[in-house]
This record gives sequence, C-alpha cells and structure tokens, in this order.
Amino acid sequence: MLDILILYYSRHGATRQLAQLIARGVESVPGCSARLRTVPAVSTVVEASAPSVPDAGAPYVELADLAQCAGLALGSPTRFGNMAAPLKYFLDTTSNDWLAGNLIGKPACVFTSTSSQHGGNESTLLSMMLPLLHHGMAIIGLPYSEPALSHTSGGGSPYGASHIAGADGRRPIDEHEKALAIAMGKRLAETALKLARPL
Ligand SMILES: Cc1cc2nc3c(=O)[nH]c(=O)nc-3n(C[C@H](O)[C@H](O)[C@H](O)COP(=O)(O)O)c2cc1C
Repeated sequence: MLDILILYYSRHGATRQLAQLIARGVESVPGCSARLRTVPAVSTVVEASAPSVPDAGAPYVELADLAQCAGLALGSPTRFGNMAAPLKYFLDTTSNDWLAGNLIGKPACVFTSTSSQHGGNESTLLSMMLPLLHHGMAIIGLPYSEPALSHTSGGGSPYGASHIAGADGRRPIDEHEKALAIAMGKRLAETALKLARPL
C-alpha cells in the first residue's frame, strides 16, 4: 500500500472537509491509503501550551509522515492571500528532509478554503506550491477534462481544489467543489502509483 499524506490546517472546519473529500478520492484508488494529519496552532507559547495529541480530528503530523509518504496533498485556509502560519511553521521545520532529498520526485497537490471568491483563493494555492517545489516535488493540478472545472461558480481551479466559504464561513461545499476535491485525491493517488512503479 502507498501512503498518501493529506496534511492541512483548519481553524473552522472548511479546509478539513476538503481534506476528507480528497482522502475519499485517494482511497478510491486500489493500492493507496490516505493518512490525514494536521498541525497545531501557533502562538508565542505553542511548545508550552499545546497538547501533544489534539482533542479531536486528525493527529498532528510527524516529520516521519512526510519522509515516508508516497504523495502529499497540502491544505490551508487563506490568510491574507497566503497559507496560514501554523502550516508554514511546520514546513519551516523540514530542512533535514530538504537536505536528504526525501520528497524529490514525489507528487503533490494543494487545496484551500477562502471566504471570498477574489480574496486570494488562487494566490494561496500558488503560495503553497513554492516550498513543495523547493523540496523537488512534482506538482499536479486539475485538468479541464474534469467537467466541474468548467461549471464551477465557486471554488475549484486548475491550481487545485478549493472552496469559497462565504463571509460568515457557512457556505457548504457545493457539488462542483466536492467533485473536484475527490478528483484531485484520485489523481494524486494514481500519479503516486505510476511514479512508484519501477521503470
Ligand atoms: C487572519 C485571517 C486572514 C484571512 N484572510 C483572508 C483573505 O485574505 N481572503 C479571504 O477571502 N478570506 C480570508 N480569511 C477567511 C478564511 O480564509 C476562511 O474563513 C476559510 O474558509 C477558513 O477555513 P477553515 O474553516 O478551514 O479554518 C482569513 C481569515 C483569517 C482568520
């Protein structure tokens, strides 16, 4: 079985729902299993105050999850057009994986949830690709052969799965956003399988 790491931060749950849909897509591919992991919130006292195991939801990621994964889906809410600090904080601890080349050649994709449609949805997706490119990962997006990409009036873009949560954060994930999140998980798993096969 190939382990596909789905690593995300979510404060209010929208990005977590996208992560679960991507996991559904991953698990639809025989030979692949989804490993959902999150990161703790950060504050100046994070090491002193955060419990080592979250009260609910996905476990906190360990560096070994990253080193051992066959593929990675990375997700964050939009924060001022960029990924949220807790996810960036974790990525900034991955220097040894970069030095060892642990992620080189592995497939990766990105996903986000944003309040407003033009409030940084796509820039967040692009910003999350940058550290993954430094790690040498092979970034995959969503092709227009996915019908929902041409029909969505909410989230979902060639750069990755996404959701528009609305000003109050309560807009549910719609059918197109859902289809694209599942399709992205499936595509990530299928790509990991192809790349894992010996030439
Ligand atoms: C500090 C902060 C900055 C934010 N910046 C943006 C932004 O630039 N554009 C936007 O549309 N939404 C922004 N939001 C809203 C979140 O991206 C949105 O509510 C998202 O759906 C939350 O995802 P979650 O439910 O996974 O936590 C921001 C929220 C916070 C707390």
